[in-house]
Amino acid sequence: MSEIKIERLKSLDEKTLNELIRVYMEGYKGLEEYGGEGEDYARNYILWCWKKAPDGFFVAKIGDKIVGFIVCDKDWFSKYEGRIVGAIHEFVVDKSYQGKGIGKKLLITCLDFLKNFNDTIELWVGEKNYGAMKLYEKFGFKKVGKSGIWIRMVKQNL
Ligand SMILES: CC(C)(COP(=O)(O)OP(=O)(O)OC[C@H]1O[C@@H](n2cnc3c(N)ncnc32)[C@H](O)[C@@H]1OP(=O)(O)O)[C@@H](O)C(=O)NCCC(=O)NCCS
Repeated sequence: MSEIKIERLKSLDEKTLNELIRVYMEGYKGLEEYGGEGEDYARNYILWCWKKAPDGFFVAKIGDKIVGFIVCDKDWFSKYEGRIVGAIHEFVVDKSYQGKGIGKKLLITCLDFLKNFNDTIELWVGEKNYGAMKLYEKFGFKKVGKSGIWIRMVKQNL
């Protein structure tokens, strides 16, 4: 596989937005319960992410093609922690590129970014999304709570 580059997303034009929607739709195949709400939802959610955390929006690229992205928010008010923490709002790799180490590279970039601002990071993961949970646990996240089909995971003391 050609070299994978992780870059901060510089701008979100229509072409890039469509690429991100494609990655999202492909990435969640087989996990529709946790990310299969459809293209309109994906579009609105990605736009919300870009507005909320433009400085923590990283993409994985092979050549010019976006194959994954992660959205890291350094300024998230967690009602569970009662204060501002870091948060991962989205993290997805195109299905055809999963299992090749791209997710790990994105997550390392995200944690490197957030550690400059936060001592705690929170995220929510689907209760049966065992692959993602295993990856988060390898990076020190712990399961700390549950709401419906979602598990809250937290990483402390960066
Ligand atoms: C989670 C996700 C982003 C990981 O990206 P990836 O490029 O596949 O991850 P990597 O190839 O870097 O794998 C890293 C580690 O994750 C774990 N992992 C990832 N997917 C896994 C799976 N389906 N089953 C078991 N372990 C898995 C492995 O422990 C792996 O470590 P190893 O290489 O030491 O075995 C990707 O699988 C994805 O897009 N999933 C669908 C969307 C999603 O669930 N996002 C998380 C929402 S909270």
